[in-house]
Amino acid sequence: MASVAKLPRPTEMAHRLLSERIQEGDTVVDATVGNGHDTLFLANCVGENGHVIGFDLQAGAIEKTRKRTGNRPNITLHQAGHETLDDFIAEPIAAITFNLGYLPGGDKNLITDKESTLTALKKSVAFLEPGGLLTVVAYIGHEGGPEEGEAVSDWASSLDQDNFSVARYEFQNQRNSPPFLLAIEKRM
Ligand SMILES: C[S@@+](CC[C@H](N)C(=O)[O-])C[C@H]1O[C@@H](n2cnc3c(N)ncnc32)[C@H](O)[C@@H]1O
Repeated sequence: MASVAKLPRPTEMAHRLLSERIQEGDTVVDATVGNGHDTLFLANCVGENGHVIGFDLQAGAIEKTRKRTGNRPNITLHQAGHETLDDFIAEPIAAITFNLGYLPGGDKNLITDKESTLTALKKSVAFLEPGGLLTVVAYIGHEGGPEEGEAVSDWASSLDQDNFSVARYEFQNQRNSPPFLLAIEKRM
C-alpha cells in the first residue's frame, strides 16, 4: 500500500506557499524570528544574493536566530517590534511571514499583541510588491490568542478583493484550538 498522505501543518503550508513564491535574490521579511527556523528557511529560499530582514523584541530570540543561521551575510536582524518595520525597510518586499504567539522554550508571557500585530500587518501589506505574499500563522490556544486571531482574520477578510487575494488554511476537526494560516497575496 502507498504511504499514507499527511496533510501539512499550517507552518508547513506557509513554507510551501512561500517557497513557491520566493525567487533567488529577493528581499523578504521574517516579522517574528523567534528560534530562527523561519529565518533559516527564508535565507535558503532567497540565496546568497537575496536578503532576509528579521525582527523580534527579545534579545534571546535574536541570539538564537543568529546561532541557528550562522551569521549569514544575507540576514539582517533587528531587536525591534515589527510594528516599527517601516523604520528599517524602504524597498518593496517579495514575502513577509508572521508566526504569532510566544517563543517556544522562552517566556510565555511575552506574546505577540493584537494591536501591534495589526499595526505591523497593515504596514506590511503596503511594502509587499505586486505578486508578493504575506503569511500569518495564528495560535489561539493561549490567553489573548483567540482575540488576536479573530482580529487578524477580520482584518484580512476586509482587504479589498481587487487588490488582494486572501486564503485561510486550518484543521477543522482537531482538539485544543489548532492554529490557522492566513495567506495574503498582493495582486499584480
Ligand atoms: C511563535 S514565536 C516565532 C517562532 C519563529 N518564527 C521560529 O521560526 O522559531 C513568536 C515570536 O514573536 C516575538 N514577538 C512578540 N511580539 C513581537 C513584536 N511586537 N515584534 C516582533 N516580534 C515579536 C516573540 O518574542 C517570539 O519570539
